[in-house]
Amino acid sequence: MKLSAQKSTLLNMKADAVAVFITEEKKTFQQQVDQLKKILRSQIEQMIEIENFKGKDGQLFFIYTEKKFTASRFLLLGLGEAKDLSLEKFRRAAALAAKKSKTLKVQHLAFQLPDIPNGFVNSTEDVAHAIAEGSILSLYKFDKYHTEKKDGEDKITAISIFDTNEANLQKVRRGLHTAGIVSQAVSLARDLENAPGNEIYPETLAGAAKISAKKFGYKATVWNKKKIEEEGFGGLLGVNSGSVRPPAFIILEYKNNDSAPIVLVGKGITFDTGGISIKPATNMAEMKMDMSGAAAVIGTMEAAARLKLPVHVIGLIPTTENMPSGSAIKPGDIITHYGGKTSEVDNTDAEGRLILADALAYASRYKPAAVIDLATLTGACVVALGHHATGMMGNDDELAAQLKAAGEKTYERVWQLPLYDEYEKQIKSDIADVKNVGGKWAGAITAGWFLKKFIGDYKWVHLDIAGTAILEEDLPYTPKGGSGVGVRLLVEFLKNRKIPA
Ligand code: BES
Ligand code: ZN
Ligand code: ZN
Repeated sequence: MKLSAQKSTLLNMKADAVAVFITEEKKTFQQQVDQLKKILRSQIEQMIEIENFKGKDGQLFFIYTEKKFTASRFLLLGLGEAKDLSLEKFRRAAALAAKKSKTLKVQHLAFQLPDIPNGFVNSTEDVAHAIAEGSILSLYKFDKYHTEKKDGEDKITAISIFDTNEANLQKVRRGLHTAGIVSQAVSLARDLENAPGNEIYPETLAGAAKISAKKFGYKATVWNKKKIEEEGFGGLLGVNSGSVRPPAFIILEYKNNDSAPIVLVGKGITFDTGGISIKPATNMAEMKMDMSGAAAVIGTMEAAARLKLPVHVIGLIPTTENMPSGSAIKPGDIITHYGGKTSEVDNTDAEGRLILADALAYASRYKPAAVIDLATLTGACVVALGHHATGMMGNDDELAAQLKAAGEKTYERVWQLPLYDEYEKQIKSDIADVKNVGGKWAGAITAGWFLKKFIGDYKWVHLDIAGTAILEEDLPYTPKGGSGVGVRLLVEFLKNRKIPA
């Protein structure tokens, strides 16, 4: 996708379609309509009335004009009332414009830089970023396995934002640059998630990380099974024992200053059958996306490196399939994790926490400034929060607040669940240090508590993305399937990291 900032008026803008953001307020609405009327020299007012377009949030009005003095297709995008404006409204309106433009066979879609109302908390750069991000991400499609390509399928190849003020355009350029990189990183994460389990398994997931690292100048180290055995990652080996494909442990590093690193840990179960505690057949195919945490970590590392963020980040990805077989772990088995703690496996389907335990214990060796893990960890989290919020748990209020703020800004929202001491007894084991399931109630929290048993002396946040990573229905700029959640959230979090003196 070609992204550009262009100096132009609405009248002169050359593009296949021009989109104009319009707020609902009577006065500004009328001003904007008057302006369009002059330019288009058409009965736009009547047309708008017939269509009942009032600039309401989510409204789209399409005008086709034969006159060639300007772009021939105009899209009016309603934003709702100015006082309720948010970056998310820009993302959604831009997504709507992009999807409509695709059906109109538009190749170059241009957005008029909207007026930013007084009191709006976000910058012009942020607005440009949101517009580009919403349009690019809404066009994402996982179609590499369709052998019959629809003939001459039309693609939007260029998106631009125009304005007449050069100072504004500088800001737009910065926003577009960031948005382009972040959107590609989200698309990479989505591709990894949506790829079937016979394409993405530990070896190929590691391969994808290596390719990204090499291309964008960060480090990737991959441990093989022998090294994983030598290091004593009992959780990863235990979960892997039913699979014919070997496990891997992927270590990524992007270092652009000497500060203590932020360590990102991603669950990399490339397919979760449940193991011996096998899952029902319905919807099991979704479990190819049980590596969404890993995908988010790879996407974030790639974006951080390309944006040259002034941070030090380590990515840790334990990865394996979870399969049933004669060699698989069984309920009742006991595992010794990295660092020596033991866990009793009561249910082999609670495998994510077993592999994360090793990685979280291992993270201590980096003396991290903070550790954030992302995992499609529990169905219970989906029951609690559905698909619109990631479950957050942790041990540090300030770190949690930073993620919360990044979540509000990017709309990858997180919602905190408590890790009260009282929940701990649900995962007590009679025969090991901890048991891997905590009974019927508060399943997302008892999973969080299990992880808490393995963290070191560091600030930590756990993000349960089971509901937000795997979508059963389309969202405004996210088609169903793998959402790439976590990338935008973490890039925003990293951008705001104060560099310690
Ligand atoms: N990968 C699943 C969690 C999951 C469920 C993710 C639905 C996305 C959508 C995880 O490994 C799992 O199976 N968890 C069990 C834990 C239970 C056995 C304690 C669950 O949630 O049922
Ligand atoms: Zn499972
Ligand atoms: Zn799982």
